[in-house]
Amino acid sequence: MPKVVVVYLSTSGNTKAMADAIVDGANSRNADAKAVNFHEAKIEDIIAADAIAIGSSTFHYKMLPPMEKFIENLKKANVAGKVGAAFGSYGWSGEAPVMIAEKMRELGMNVIDPVLRIQYQPTEKDLDECKRLGKDIVSKVKKIAEKPTRAGSGSKLEDASVREVKMGEGGH
Ligand SMILES: Cc1cc2nc3c(=O)[nH]c(=O)nc-3n(C[C@H](O)[C@H](O)[C@H](O)COP(=O)(O)O)c2cc1C
Repeated sequence: MPKVVVVYLSTSGNTKAMADAIVDGANSRNADAKAVNFHEAKIEDIIAADAIAIGSSTFHYKMLPPMEKFIENLKKANVAGKVGAAFGSYGWSGEAPVMIAEKMRELGMNVIDPVLRIQYQPTEKDLDECKRLGKDIVSKVKKIAEKPTRAGSGSKLEDASVREVKMGEGGH
């Protein structure tokens, strides 16, 4: 059963709602998935995970600083080869998920493209999109497990494209 850890940092619950929906989507495909606030994330869980999804809202045109530190610490967990996914709620510029995906690639993770951004509070339709990402994560883990060679795409810093859903408004 693929193990998926969804780590989030959310100031008012918007990115957390995305994380919970990603978990629901993954578990609907028979994964062992859970969402954890970044300060509750345990290194053992990260090491044991087949896939790690990381979410942060965008503040001042970047991810929240504690999440940057968390990702920095992932170096110790040797996450190369694991499936990665980046997501987050945003208001107007939404850099955080793109930056998270970039850092994940630098760590050698197999990152799902595009990243998932939702403007402000997710609507039901947005949450369906998050569930779909959860399912995609499980499919990617299974595909990699089927293929004995883990050559990777060879690409390093391709421009991360964005799966953008601009439905919700007025999260404050
Ligand atoms: C002080 C402040 C700064 C923000 N800066 C940005 C920004 O630079 N770019 C952006 O897209 N959204 C920005 N936002 C909007 C948040 O990303 C948005 O409200 C998001 O839904 C918060 O999600 P969360 O509840 O998961 O933290 C900012 C919000 C606040 C309160």
